[in-house]
Amino acid sequence: MRSERLRALFRASVLILQIAIVGLALCEAQGAGKDSIKKELFGKTADGAAVDIYTLKNAAGAEVKITTYGGIVVSLKVPDKNGKFDDVVLGYDNLDGYLKNNGPYLGALIGRYANRIAKGRFKLDGVEYKLAVNNGENHLHGGLKGFDKVVWSATPLRVANGAALKLRYRSKDGEEGYPGNLSATVIYTLSDANELKIDYSATTDKRTIVNLTSHSYFNLAGQGNGDILKTQLFINANRFTPTDAGSIPTGELRPVRATPFDFTKPMEIGARIDQDEEQLRFGQGYDHNFVLNKQGKRLTLAARAYEPNSGRLMQVYTTEPGVQLYAGNFLDGSITGKDGKVYNRRYGFCLEAQHFPDSPNKPSFPSVVLTPGRRYTQTTVYKFSTK
Ligand code: GLA
Repeated sequence: MRSERLRALFRASVLILQIAIVGLALCEAQGAGKDSIKKELFGKTADGAAVDIYTLKNAAGAEVKITTYGGIVVSLKVPDKNGKFDDVVLGYDNLDGYLKNNGPYLGALIGRYANRIAKGRFKLDGVEYKLAVNNGENHLHGGLKGFDKVVWSATPLRVANGAALKLRYRSKDGEEGYPGNLSATVIYTLSDANELKIDYSATTDKRTIVNLTSHSYFNLAGQGNGDILKTQLFINANRFTPTDAGSIPTGELRPVRATPFDFTKPMEIGARIDQDEEQLRFGQGYDHNFVLNKQGKRLTLAARAYEPNSGRLMQVYTTEPGVQLYAGNFLDGSITGKDGKVYNRRYGFCLEAQHFPDSPNKPSFPSVVLTPGRRYTQTTVYKFSTK
């Protein structure tokens, strides 16, 4: 009697074990429930430096590809409302694309100073520094060879609930005209909750200026799938920084109320973009910095973008005081990106979390000065979901 009961118990436990093993194997086969990171060779720069591409996958099946060239986000695959994965950022299939077309900064890390510095000049502690002039008479996005065009060193990181990659770049004293040896670190984390988190930090050995950002062009309908004019955008900003004709802020913080810059209620990007308004003429559409409603450096909601057909929602959180909305106004169909897709005007939008443009020359703007012994930090999160 007793041995029969024991045998039944044994058989039951074997069955449970078998079911568990099959279940585990199925999960493995679908790649579900696991974070992973893979490294491959992406190519070589003109001077022969090896460039890698890392693929980070999260437990939910989302995936981001990041190359050590410019720390560029090459692709980002997230689900739509039906669970279909699409690549929602613009980019190129291979390194050559990035090496040849250095104009639009697709997906790149931007430094040392994101956005513009008037006439490429600024004064720090009584010394005038001259930077490269590469945008009309102004300095843009770090100069001729900014952080978007250098090879970063990479180390995969172990993190809970996600996959992460740490990038480092040491910028020499005098590089592109900037003072101080600057040691910059960027950590990309793809969390299991479909967040792409970017943690930036930097230290210097001489007083200098820093303003780092990321220049991904998003199209929530999928890269190359039309323009972004029907994307509904909310920006948590009651004011923006109007500019002169060369996109240099005048110093004014202008209320968005009753202007085409009011995104305090969700509004299609295209609803007012072509209005005959001076600021829109200057930017050929939106290419402006918004003053986020916040105090201090807490991580707070900056913007929300929703694409109704796919149901994709992107929320942007940042520690930064500003965000540049750039509506891809200068894309003109001359670029063929991933999968042979042609990037026409306004096929992607950027939300570049940052300090305000030309801050080094605007004492009233939040300071961008970094002092030896202190650490520059900024965190921005792009969080994807559907509704
Ligand atoms: C930034 C600038 C734009 C443009 C793009 C790149 O967002 O503000 O004016 O230069 O980069 O094309």
